[in-house]
Amino acid sequence: MYELVTKQELAPNIYLIEIAAADVAKKSNPGQFVIIRLDQKGERVPLTIAGVDLNKGTVATAFHAVGRTTKKLAKMNAGDSITDLSGPLGNPAEVGKFGKVLLVGGGVWCAPLHYVAEALRKNSNELFIVAAGRTKNDMVYENELKAVADQFFVATDDGSKGNQGLDFLADVLKAQKFDHAVVMGPVSTMKKVVDLTRPYGLKTMVTLASLMVDGTGMCGACRVTVGGVTKFACMDGPEFNGLDVDFEELVSRQRVYLPEERMASMIHDKLEGGVKRG
Ligand SMILES: Cc1cc2nc3c(=O)[nH]c(=O)nc-3n(C[C@H](O)[C@H](O)[C@H](O)COP(=O)(O)OP(=O)(O)OC[C@H]3O[C@@H](n4cnc5c(N)ncnc54)[C@H](O)[C@@H]3O)c2cc1C
Ligand code: FES
Repeated sequence: MYELVTKQELAPNIYLIEIAAADVAKKSNPGQFVIIRLDQKGERVPLTIAGVDLNKGTVATAFHAVGRTTKKLAKMNAGDSITDLSGPLGNPAEVGKFGKVLLVGGGVWCAPLHYVAEALRKNSNELFIVAAGRTKNDMVYENELKAVADQFFVATDDGSKGNQGLDFLADVLKAQKFDHAVVMGPVSTMKKVVDLTRPYGLKTMVTLASLMVDGTGMCGACRVTVGGVTKFACMDGPEFNGLDVDFEELVSRQRVYLPEERMASMIHDKLEGGVKRG
């Protein structure tokens, strides 16, 4: 069993938890993920590592309560335990010495992006960071990202805070030369940034949250097409150069179980009620 040591609501339906898993914490690197299972019958849900505390022996992860498992997890509290946590899985993000790096985080993904940003900062990169969200209420990890940035911007889809959307990056990319880019967020955010960086041939690393089952290369559920070649996001990624990613295929594969996921989420809401905050 793995104990939830802390739980914090970062924004409506977005939570940060620290889970006691000292052995996993010791081996974790930015960009890697864990797969958790809440109970014996639970589904396996991948969550990206947002940081570790080696003194406490904990792994932090931020999650958006969108479906059955994450809504159940949102109802758990510090002191409760989950059945399984496997990890760290996947390859670490590239955090070498590049020079000037553009980082864009969308919604809940700003938390794991901060873990990547810290590592890039340690390697003396200059960081231009954008924290994005749907509205000003969905913003998370703004202060943390600002603290490690050389230049920091906020963007919201509805313009309620900072820039409206990410189009402003077109001017930024025209005016400044970047050596590397990292985007973590919904597919729409990753694709948007890749569309903007493509004319400059800027290597733009994206984290692909494809459907996963085992997370160890056994089932093939997570296959994605990168540079015309089939890759397994769990073993070959989850970070890939977005310039080579077939985003359309990714979106259609992510939707394969949408009716079942919606049904499971509705049943959860009916049987167990909405998410209790705190
Ligand atoms: C490598 C990897 C790393 C991941 N890291 C994270 C992470 O750090 N944090 C995190 O929150 N998720 C992360 N995910 C996604 C997470 O694993 C899935 O959202 C998971 O399916 C949730 O399980 P569930 O049972 O709660 O929902 P499911 O029953 O699987 O249903 C998810 C449903 O929610 C919908 N959905 C997904 N995102 C949103 C959204 N933003 N708003 C509204 N609807 C949405 C989907 O279309 C789907 O219908 C990651 C996925 C992968 C593969
Ligand atoms: S999740 Fe099964 S092969 Fe990647």
